[in-house]
Amino acid sequence: MSPRYPDGHVFYRKLWHDYPRIVRAEGITLIADDGRRYLDAAGGAIVVNIGHGVKAIADAMAEQARQVAYVHGEKFTTPVLEAYADALAAITPLPDARFYFVTTGSEANEAAIKLARQIQMARGQNNRHIVIGRWNSYHGTTLATLAVGGRKSARSRFLPMIHDMPHIEPPTCYRCPFGQQYPACGLTCAHELERTITAYGPENIAAFIAEPVSGAALAATVPPPDYWPTIRDICDRYGILLIADEVMCGAGRTGRWCAFEHFDFTPDILTMGKGVAGGVFPLSIMAARGTLVEELYRAGQDIAHGGTFSHHAVGAAAGLAVLRYIQENDLVGAAAQKGERLGQLLHQTLDELPGVGDVRGIGLMWGVEFVQDKASKTPFDPALDVAHRVFNAARDRGLMLYPGRGAADGTSGDVIMVGPPAVITEDEMQTVVTLLAEVIRETILPLLA
Ligand SMILES: Cc1ncc(COP(=O)(O)O)c(C=O)c1O
Repeated sequence: MSPRYPDGHVFYRKLWHDYPRIVRAEGITLIADDGRRYLDAAGGAIVVNIGHGVKAIADAMAEQARQVAYVHGEKFTTPVLEAYADALAAITPLPDARFYFVTTGSEANEAAIKLARQIQMARGQNNRHIVIGRWNSYHGTTLATLAVGGRKSARSRFLPMIHDMPHIEPPTCYRCPFGQQYPACGLTCAHELERTITAYGPENIAAFIAEPVSGAALAATVPPPDYWPTIRDICDRYGILLIADEVMCGAGRTGRWCAFEHFDFTPDILTMGKGVAGGVFPLSIMAARGTLVEELYRAGQDIAHGGTFSHHAVGAAAGLAVLRYIQENDLVGAAAQKGERLGQLLHQTLDELPGVGDVRGIGLMWGVEFVQDKASKTPFDPALDVAHRVFNAARDRGLMLYPGRGAADGTSGDVIMVGPPAVITEDEMQTVVTLLAEVIRETILPLLA
């Protein structure tokens, strides 16, 4: 594809990119107007968990739009909104959870940050305003979520404009930031939270935010089993609220409805997005333990966050229909079972390839990290843009992946994610992995020669 200044009047996300024009999508396949087909092995941005083109979802949305498409969420409720919240409460193991519906993952995290601050104030802890984040995490594109996020490439240009927050190192055992090895390390990365709390003063800290399973920046890095219980314990000891960002890893993606269910802890506030509506509606959710919402109520307050499109009736219909579809087809079970098979195939096929440093993941959320040298784990020079080379070569063969960079030190460390819809078949999984291996050989071997 030859980049040229785009025709027409769309202000595209990437001005240096030539966009295939997709006219239809079904299952895990996208179909372009020139007849080309793309295997959507990343469900877009790890979004489409139920597959494309599910008629039942489109019907539910159309029916809701016919009945009532929109009311202002501050003035009215709708039966569909209440039904969706009840259905979510039945499967989300957050005690007596309350669900706040917004449109993007960034906004859900923004709302979570504000709620944490408001809860601390309702407790008379007016100084608690700091939200600690982790390096190489991504929580969104707004200025507040960039402040708590740890993706240097996303933050750097806006640093003078944001109220920066402290960050701790992530639990990346493949490249331990402390040069240690699990379990001998005693979870230095988790205990860094306590050191940071002490350094900034617990009386100033409102919350800690992190992804239970890391998203694109660290490509499906799964922490050791005792990481999250240790973090939970530290937060409890210092009166700090724990926000789990499950915008990418939630909604069944990891083989459990919530990713935190793998790790024996319960957050105070949970955010979800992407897969909750499977891409058919821009729907995200901020959920909180019922006791927190009641605290707000008893303090005579509401959450100071809301938008024109929050609590949207068609959004709720989409979310509810997706949830029912997931349940009727046991797609959470499918993510667990097919994810294990996908992991097997990825390990068998990629582990020994030159240039592949690590293959990791859980459920249907997998990451591959590329290295120039396997023994030393030296990343490629970022100027080579290896992740995008792999992405481009894969796309040219009709395979869609999700690339990222910065897994090593925030700047270098190329990764790609494989996160297909849970309706993927065994044959399709084999095709995805075979194509990926061919693409890696084709793009990375010449760089190592
Ligand atoms: C973990 C995580 N949090 C938040 C976001 C932001 O979501 P959105 O792009 O819908 O604003 C993303 C998006 O990739 C994400 O992966």
